[in-house]
Amino acid sequence: MFLHSYSTSTLSLSSSVAFLSSSSPTMQKGIFVSVPVLVLSVSFAAAVIFLLSSSCSCPSSVSSPNDVGVSVSDVRLEERISPTREDIEWVRDLIRSNGLRMQKNELRKGINPRTRDQQLADLIQYKGISHYEGEEEANNHTALPCPGELLVEQHHSNYGEPWAGGRDVFEFLAQSSNLKPNSRVLEIGCGTLRVGLHFIRYLNPTHFHCLEKDELSLMAALRYELPSQGLLRKRPLILRGDDMEFSKFGLDTAYDLIYASAVFLHMPDKLVWTGLERLVEKLKPYDGRIFVSHNVKFCSRLGGDECAKKLASLGLEYLGKQTHDSLLFNHYEIWFGFRRVKP
Ligand SMILES: C[S@@+](CC[C@H](N)C(=O)[O-])C[C@H]1O[C@@H](n2cnc3c(N)ncnc32)[C@H](O)[C@@H]1O
Repeated sequence: MFLHSYSTSTLSLSSSVAFLSSSSPTMQKGIFVSVPVLVLSVSFAAAVIFLLSSSCSCPSSVSSPNDVGVSVSDVRLEERISPTREDIEWVRDLIRSNGLRMQKNELRKGINPRTRDQQLADLIQYKGISHYEGEEEANNHTALPCPGELLVEQHHSNYGEPWAGGRDVFEFLAQSSNLKPNSRVLEIGCGTLRVGLHFIRYLNPTHFHCLEKDELSLMAALRYELPSQGLLRKRPLILRGDDMEFSKFGLDTAYDLIYASAVFLHMPDKLVWTGLERLVEKLKPYDGRIFVSHNVKFCSRLGGDECAKKLASLGLEYLGKQTHDSLLFNHYEIWFGFRRVKP
């Protein structure tokens, strides 16, 4: 899924070297320059170019020891959402150049594959693997004890699809809503944060909100996902509730994006409409977006005309449906977009 293509900067090490070694007027005019002086001059010039390029705000260029000349987008790295074609080629080359092939997951020396059940049994039996001896040492290094059931990541399979699909959903929604780090986002039914984690990482602190009803999912989100991803500092506001009541998120929050990923199809139609009615005034007019995945049967079940009338009475406009591709596996979802058309 590449909704946006990024221009690339090509200030590579190889071109810098070519620039330095091109046309030598000194040689053309027949002036003799000794080798040490030449080496010193070239080193000095390289140092000056390095200092200039690191102090200016020019488009950046990254090169690794293995891949001289790889250029990166001139969009600020932390604002990039999807990988570029260069990123994908880069990782393919790295897999190729390392001669990597997927091997059978079998017991090998130093590598000990465990199923989730085996890991859980280990955790229960040994209470984790400790290199500490004595009760005092063993008790003093856990800041936020996490239940074993969450540590073995059973919740990554709670909803069936690969956990990695959350990244695809994030990239699609972020690009479709023109997301920026200072945007404000509300997810309805964020579950175990399969999608939400990527928003939380990208957005400014406190800018991600979620209303979720399931206690186990909330525990997994708060006790395992946020701490293990280093995202506690992002302070997402994740609240328990099943009543589509959003006043507890603040009365005058204006969202750039509100989305429900695989949620409305599990809710009674009446509750979805109640939620939409409450959400319209929390969505930024015109530019803000609501995205709903899978289907909009809550609307179509009313009948075409009724459905359109009801949306219009709320001040919502249906923008059509889109699908998205996946980076990692053959999969797509259908998304239905809406915007607010009254100020
Ligand atoms: C299939 S899961 C999807 C989770 C997440 N959006 C994702 O894509 O990974 C549906 C989620 O919606 C939540 N949910 C269902 N009804 C809800 C309601 N009335 N209010 C809040 N959350 C609800 C469920 O608890 C569950 O976590």
